[in-house]
Amino acid sequence: MERFHFEQLLSKRFQRRGFLLGAGALTGLVISSQWSQRVVAAPKFSGYPFSLGIASGDPFPQSVVLWTRLAPEPFSSDGGMPQQNVPVQWQVATNERMSHIVRSGTAIATPELAHSVHIEVRGLEPNRWYWYQFKVGNEISPLGRTRTAPAFGEPLDQLNFAFVSCQKWDDGYYSAYRRMAEEDLDLVFHLGDYIYEYGIDSKGGVRNLSIPEQFRSETVTLDRYRLQYALYKTDPDLQRVHALFPFVVTWDDHEVDNDYTDAISQDKDPVKKFLGRRAAAYQAYYEHQPLRRYSLPQGSDMRLYHRLIFGDLVQFYVLDTRQYRSNQPCGDGETPRCEAALDPSKTMTGIEQERWLLDRLDSSQLRWNVIAQQVLMAELEHKLGSGEIFWNDSWDGYPLARQRILNHIVNRRISNPVVITGDWHSTFVNDLKLDFKKLNSPTVATEFVVTAISTGGDNNGYDDYYGPKIPENPHIKFFDGDRRGYFRVNLNHERWQTDLRIVTTVSRSDAPVFTFASFIVENGRPGAQRI
Ligand SMILES: [Fe+2]
Repeated sequence: MERFHFEQLLSKRFQRRGFLLGAGALTGLVISSQWSQRVVAAPKFSGYPFSLGIASGDPFPQSVVLWTRLAPEPFSSDGGMPQQNVPVQWQVATNERMSHIVRSGTAIATPELAHSVHIEVRGLEPNRWYWYQFKVGNEISPLGRTRTAPAFGEPLDQLNFAFVSCQKWDDGYYSAYRRMAEEDLDLVFHLGDYIYEYGIDSKGGVRNLSIPEQFRSETVTLDRYRLQYALYKTDPDLQRVHALFPFVVTWDDHEVDNDYTDAISQDKDPVKKFLGRRAAAYQAYYEHQPLRRYSLPQGSDMRLYHRLIFGDLVQFYVLDTRQYRSNQPCGDGETPRCEAALDPSKTMTGIEQERWLLDRLDSSQLRWNVIAQQVLMAELEHKLGSGEIFWNDSWDGYPLARQRILNHIVNRRISNPVVITGDWHSTFVNDLKLDFKKLNSPTVATEFVVTAISTGGDNNGYDDYYGPKIPENPHIKFFDGDRRGYFRVNLNHERWQTDLRIVTTVSRSDAPVFTFASFIVENGRPGAQRI
């Protein structure tokens, strides 16, 4: 693989290649902004406008999304930008030196979307690396690297990716991201809790930095969500992994409100009020992620679930288990299973998304079928001794919705199903059983639950709390509650390998990483085996 020298951040080639806004440069662009139709052609900034970094995402065979948001003053709610449209130039090259440009253009950053841009670059070649860069006024962005997926059905020997979740900024440094940046990966999945909605204390938690007053309150308004993303996005290790790898993102609850479902907030706010908050949160999410146009929010609705195909090897189904979910049938928190949980109308995905998932699984010709989603799918009964207790916000609160998917996988003989999950700030490796109550029930799929990047810090006490109860769940092959990191996957036609990559601490940003354990899934044989 071609190595990428991140240190070459500010390539002068951008200027050398005559990156001047010509008279006709904006022709044909549709500008919609309620504040001003005027375009500032030569903007001046009070600080570096690319303070939040750059990103790419959603690799298709001929297309990828490029993202940035202009914010010369990231800790003011308007990012230090004028209420005016600003043209942002972009270039895509086939080499790191940016000397062989294959695509370029100008996007308009509007105040309505916090001066973010989402460029869906088309006409690229499948299965190759590209480099990209932005320019606004006289300022040039860091250099980014991204890649396209192979053509549909094209033979693909292997894919290397990582998946992550839960990066509470004030709980720890992103040492896991610093180490992930040293890996050779084709892409990264973020499975939710990219931000947390809670206010930040004056010391910034573990980071021990002086945090301005405007970060103290819980995120409820659009301005406040924007500030929270800006704070997270200023982290250099997060910026680095975004610049190095395309990301595929989905959200969990904390991008909006803890344990929310559809229109129901944690505190049971009036629905209309909460939907206003949800609209603000969804918009801020869109503004800060490399998402395609179909994800542009419509009020409090936003389409996030979608699939990605890599050659003849793997299809990913990226789910949204928050927006369309029934309220937790047995209430919040952990309880014994109640009768309402056995109501078949209770849904985790909504009827439409569930149909979409089952239909796409059905028609898949791919060797591996991977469901990328938020919350623990395996059963976790965690009352010591007799009696039962379940965490109602995970699939355990919606057992029939889970059963419908597992039944479908068996009945339709779906090829090599694997589920990748976040949320729990713990590591689990699980066999997904047709019937979790029966030891000899067939294993129908494998689930890897990735621990947090930082949430919970170095010790959140989950080993003590859950550890003793794991033996009551023999389908759980591995559990660890207190370590932080990311999971790395090497996938080929014969085998899936997950390496549990764990950092020694999140109390500093340069902690080393080690492989805590490795598990494989063999083609045609569901269930994880430790190697
Ligand atoms: Fe989380």
